[in-house]
Amino acid sequence: MRIANIVQQRQGFTLVCQDIAADKSISHRCAMFALLSDQPSHIKNFLLGEDTLSSLSIAEQLGAKVEREGSSIKITPPTKLSEPDDVLDCGNAGTGMRLYAGLLAGIDGSFVLTGDQYLRARPMSRVTNPLREIGAKIDGREHGNLAPLAIRGSTLKSFRYHSPIDSAQVKSALILAALQADKKSYYKENLLSRDHTERMLNGMGATIRNMDDGWIEITPLKAPLKPLNITVPADPSSGFFFAVAAAITPNSSTTITNVTLNPTRIEAYKVLQKMGAEITFVEKENIYEPIGDIVINYGGKLNAITVEKSIAWLIDELPALAIAMAVANGTSRVKNAKELRVKESDRIATVLRGLEACGIKCVEYPDGYEIIGSELKAATINSHGDHRIAMSFAIGGISCGMRIEDTACIDTSFPNFFDILSEITGVQQ
Ligand code: S3P
Repeated sequence: MRIANIVQQRQGFTLVCQDIAADKSISHRCAMFALLSDQPSHIKNFLLGEDTLSSLSIAEQLGAKVEREGSSIKITPPTKLSEPDDVLDCGNAGTGMRLYAGLLAGIDGSFVLTGDQYLRARPMSRVTNPLREIGAKIDGREHGNLAPLAIRGSTLKSFRYHSPIDSAQVKSALILAALQADKKSYYKENLLSRDHTERMLNGMGATIRNMDDGWIEITPLKAPLKPLNITVPADPSSGFFFAVAAAITPNSSTTITNVTLNPTRIEAYKVLQKMGAEITFVEKENIYEPIGDIVINYGGKLNAITVEKSIAWLIDELPALAIAMAVANGTSRVKNAKELRVKESDRIATVLRGLEACGIKCVEYPDGYEIIGSELKAATINSHGDHRIAMSFAIGGISCGMRIEDTACIDTSFPNFFDILSEITGVQQ
């Protein structure tokens, strides 16, 4: 088991992060959407994390030719996606499995999607049920809820589906299926979830339209899409660990460069700003979506906050935000966040047990928690195989020292995390 000991850091720091991991959501989509073109896609700064490399390997197994030089990748799609001669391993990636389920549901052939022990325990019926309703043939354990998922590609019908959960993975799976349906389809969610799929596919020539009444209209593809030509921006959810580091350490500053400023992705920074951190957003360009820098300066001791709206816009950042809440003045609350229970770990439980080990008082609810701000104390934290738990508590360790057990999972999304952390504090591995 890999372990990291984080050394307490008493001095402030100035960190300019030019090498925050590339965006995971966008990288997954690059690997998959390149398959919808008939020409090679060129992707720079592809995330070389285990999750997204799994999606890339699957694209290869489906017949794409992948040429890689460092993080620059050329994906040449096959004329027709081929039936693979082995199972398709999504590793730890929920995004990989759910989006591929939607993409493959309408492709002629037999496909088996599997993953690691954690992914095989996560709910898939949120995509398999609506996909089955439009004619997909998918099965798995617990009536199609648990992977391995066996898919027999079939003809898909158009649909009108109001999703009970605000999930970009569900939305994207259904959009990918709708592109292969007979007629226009309609999808609705209560709060717009991250919209990389719509932006990227429209950029490639698809017609996915946000209508005034909140429905999304998806027109089936009549011809292959244009290829992707993209430099993947930095991942704001990875950068957020170092944003919290600056926000809780006096005399500190973090600059994250070339990060996506998509409004559905930077809500956690706005919450941190409301808690008292000084944060500025500088938009520099717009390629599929706004991209720029985020500068975070320590702005004094943080104040507690209640987070109950737009949860899908900061769901991935809640574990790191919990570290900020743990050292803030007062009691912070998170509500309406039951989705946290089905992430890479049950993040309500893993965050709260970790904070309690650090001497913080918490109250647990089915869909959230209260954190009574105080001071973190050094502790031993087990990540439960969840990259964001490992990285959040490593950041907490800047204020008090911390031993993090089972850190290998960090490679799924942010392989150089400890290199950057060691620029601001001691890390023994
Ligand atoms: C993702 C969507 C979110 C997020 C995940 C990545 C995506 O999950 O938590 O890390 O790339 O579409 P849900 O859509 O299940 O909320």
